[in-house]
Amino acid sequence: MGEPQIRCRRDDDVKACVEALATVHEVDRYPAEWPADPGAWLTPDGMFDAWVAVEGQDILGHVALTRTDDVLAADAGLAPAGLASVARLFATASARRRGVAGALLAAATTAAAAEGLRLVLEVEDGGAAAIALYERSGWRHAGTRTGNWTTADGRTALLHTYVAPAGRDA
Ligand SMILES: CC(C)(COP(=O)(O)OP(=O)(O)OC[C@H]1O[C@@H](n2cnc3c(N)ncnc32)[C@H](O)[C@@H]1OP(=O)(O)O)[C@@H](O)C(=O)NCCC(=O)NCCS
Repeated sequence: MGEPQIRCRRDDDVKACVEALATVHEVDRYPAEWPADPGAWLTPDGMFDAWVAVEGQDILGHVALTRTDDVLAADAGLAPAGLASVARLFATASARRRGVAGALLAAATTAAAAEGLRLVLEVEDGGAAAIALYERSGWRHAGTRTGNWTTADGRTALLHTYVAPAGRDA
């Protein structure tokens, strides 16, 4: 296996990204509820850009960068104008622990830094692998709030806010 290539997502990648996301939903319940329009879910309001990890014709992972809403910025304790949010990050189950998500996060970090923006994100409490990834990458836990949905295992969602380290790659 070579190194997956990280590149900007193209419009004609969305179908394959949806198929990759379906495998993640099956294994990890991410997203918790399968969206009515998964292509739109992968293209959230306020999206600046998105990247994919590819190997040959296969999509191995995905990440998007979006505008940061006021609630998340307040949780992070930072002004929204200086922030960008990491969203829709996943690696397909068969491509895990190969650095796919780390490389996608690095691409998003570089793009945000070029615009003078600091990254923030929210992760649900059940996302142990994601939490391990962010903490290993030096992200700081800035707070926790209750979400407005029930997780697949019947808990009220708990959303943790993380802030990327200032001025260095994640
Ligand atoms: C979280 C997720 C994106 C990680 O993807 P990945 O490509 O396997 O992650 P990487 O290979 O880049 O991992 C980098 C580091 O993160 C940590 N990490 C990643 N997965 C981990 C796991 N399952 N357990 C513990 N640590 C983990 C490790 O420190 C790892 O480094 P190492 O492999 O050298 O030990 C993937 O598990 C996933 O798609 N999960 C479901 C969707 C999801 O939770 N998305 C995040 C929403 S906020």
